[in-house]
Amino acid sequence: MKRIAVLTSGGDCSGMNACIRSVVRTAVFKGMEVVGFLRGYIGLVNNEKVILNHRSVSGIINLGGTILKTGRCKEFYTYEGRKLAFENLVKNNIDGLIVIGGNGSFKGAHLLCKEFGAKVIGIPATIDNDILGTDLSLGADTAVNVAIDALDKIRDTATSLERIFVVEVMGRDCGYIAIQTALAGGCEEVLIPERDFDIIKICEEITEGNIRGKISWIVIVAEGKAKASDIAKQITQMTGLETRVVVLGHIQRGGRPTSTDRILGARMGNFAVELLVKGYSDIAVGIEHLNLRTISLEEATQKRPLYEDEYYKLIKILT
Ligand code: F6P
Repeated sequence: MKRIAVLTSGGDCSGMNACIRSVVRTAVFKGMEVVGFLRGYIGLVNNEKVILNHRSVSGIINLGGTILKTGRCKEFYTYEGRKLAFENLVKNNIDGLIVIGGNGSFKGAHLLCKEFGAKVIGIPATIDNDILGTDLSLGADTAVNVAIDALDKIRDTATSLERIFVVEVMGRDCGYIAIQTALAGGCEEVLIPERDFDIIKICEEITEGNIRGKISWIVIVAEGKAKASDIAKQITQMTGLETRVVVLGHIQRGGRPTSTDRILGARMGNFAVELLVKGYSDIAVGIEHLNLRTISLEEATQKRPLYEDEYYKLIKILT
């Protein structure tokens, strides 16, 4: 293997840069050349690229986002788009490709292997942490820490003014950030896509708490489950108590990567290059009980279990 390529695809997340750095420096260490395609599969389809060397990845281990840019490529959903992408791999003499991304990116990577025999390894990177075969995806730890940092500040004012706050966190299809934030932030309630909720019951609990003298509440809502503003309105209507809404939004996607994400990026990037060199393809890397492992790209696109019942029970016991 003489020349490999790397790209970041889908939603950006912290830790991607640490991972690019590891891919590039491991490959250079092994005497290989590295090409970085820009904006994910968009750059692969349009042949937009940069040559990456040891120096091009200096000073990025501590940066959020991705120096290669990222994107969601509509063309890559089509056979013709993927064919163009494969032709660009051939044209650029790329022996193997590393795709750093989430679910959708892995689906595309698998098709590139299946339809054209491309050699591809996937590295899981998504704040949603919903990829099967890995305890943790890049970016998830930083996102949860960003949310908790914000939540601690919200709690200061919530407690002082004895108010109810409804805080919306990211997670279109997955309650990972919500449930982790709720547990780590000592929140009273959490609404996630994986669980039904009963607003009447929640309001009864708030009213009962209020009678006992507990007035400050924090309810976490995953964006995929409901709108925080709607939940807040319903709580005010049913309990007569004042509510405030905070939508954390895209701040959860940025920021300095935590040490966990930097180390994960370093380990996974190195492992992915090793695997390409050994001739593996159509697989994703993952981490399980702190050990690196592999899983087929196709399998990895299935949703990782959230263990929401255990977490939810604990959140309610500890409230
Ligand atoms: O990448 C996952 C994610 O951050 C989800 O948590 C969120 O719902 C979605 O992406 C937001 O996507 P966009 O940045 O395109 O609005």
